[in-house]
Amino acid sequence: MASEIKYFDMKMVSEIKFFDIANEKTKLRIPSVGLGTWQSETGLVAQAVITAVKVGYRHIDCAQIYGNEKEIGVALKKLFEDGVVKREDLWITSKLWCNNHAPEDVPLALEQTLKDLQLDYLDLYLIHWPVRTKKGTPGFQPENLLPTDIPATWKALESCYDNGLTRALGVSNFSTKKLADLLEVARIPPAVDQVECHPSWQQTKLREFCKSKGVHLSGYSPLGSPGTKWLKSNVLQHPILKSVAEKLGKTPAQVALRWGLQMGHSVLPKSTNEARIKENFDLFDWSIPDDLFAEMSKIEQARLVRGDFLVNDKYGDYRTVEELWDGEI
Ligand code: A2P
Repeated sequence: MASEIKYFDMKMVSEIKFFDIANEKTKLRIPSVGLGTWQSETGLVAQAVITAVKVGYRHIDCAQIYGNEKEIGVALKKLFEDGVVKREDLWITSKLWCNNHAPEDVPLALEQTLKDLQLDYLDLYLIHWPVRTKKGTPGFQPENLLPTDIPATWKALESCYDNGLTRALGVSNFSTKKLADLLEVARIPPAVDQVECHPSWQQTKLREFCKSKGVHLSGYSPLGSPGTKWLKSNVLQHPILKSVAEKLGKTPAQVALRWGLQMGHSVLPKSTNEARIKENFDLFDWSIPDDLFAEMSKIEQARLVRGDFLVNDKYGDYRTVEELWDGEI
């Protein structure tokens, strides 16, 4: 009950609706809350995007491999036609899948994504994984894994940027070391590293490195992907998170997301449920006070998305998950 909320402190409330991110030519502002679309079923995802934009979301996180970009494109077109929002007011991210790392395939993959999303440009295009698979193969069968050539793939992304197909470039699932290696060779430095990030996997080392290099950290699975059975997530059940939520009169999901904003990273909660889409955006007129925020640093840490399916002792770059994440595991 509201009268029992002892910790609410209006002085600490800040909106945190955008984060500034680095870019070669212009200062870009990434909306701090994006709608995640991984595992958003076709048949539901268009309505989820429309609901989210009407609620106030201005950032949609997509990827070719999610298999739903065509339907998202239909939703975006409708939103523009109905005058709900203008293209320039939205931030649309998509990602290059592992089987399109060959430099000649990069522009084709991006053009296909643009066609499916019915857009002229993206706001952000990411290398989805530091992993390469054979062209045309869908999954991660060991024999499809190939050695990566991230500098060559990145050069092809830079050409797409030069040609105006995307306003910013970035990576996803890059460890501190892999990000540092890319920063060494990139003409256009990555603006974003999108990685798993939630109160039970806080990315302390990568976060510090990103801060020192002006790379924005964006957090996927910010709720710990409770719907993904094989991840066996219990992020939202953690007693510290639950107790902070209780004290603030918020849900554990809201506290997990608001924690992300106060840590300084954007959050990408996925939902296709109208009530939860609203709940996950109701983050801007309250904050987690310092004492409770500090409590959250005591939560035990464990990576959920380990990527065991990406490592193999015969094929590809990584023999172990330790190698994939360069020890950040
Ligand atoms: P649904 O789409 O039915 O809402 P993450 O963004 O960490 O990957 O988590 C997504 C999962 O969390 C989905 O299964 C989603 O289900 C569920 N979810 C989204 N919002 C909430 C919420 N506010 N509380 C609990 N579960 C949520």
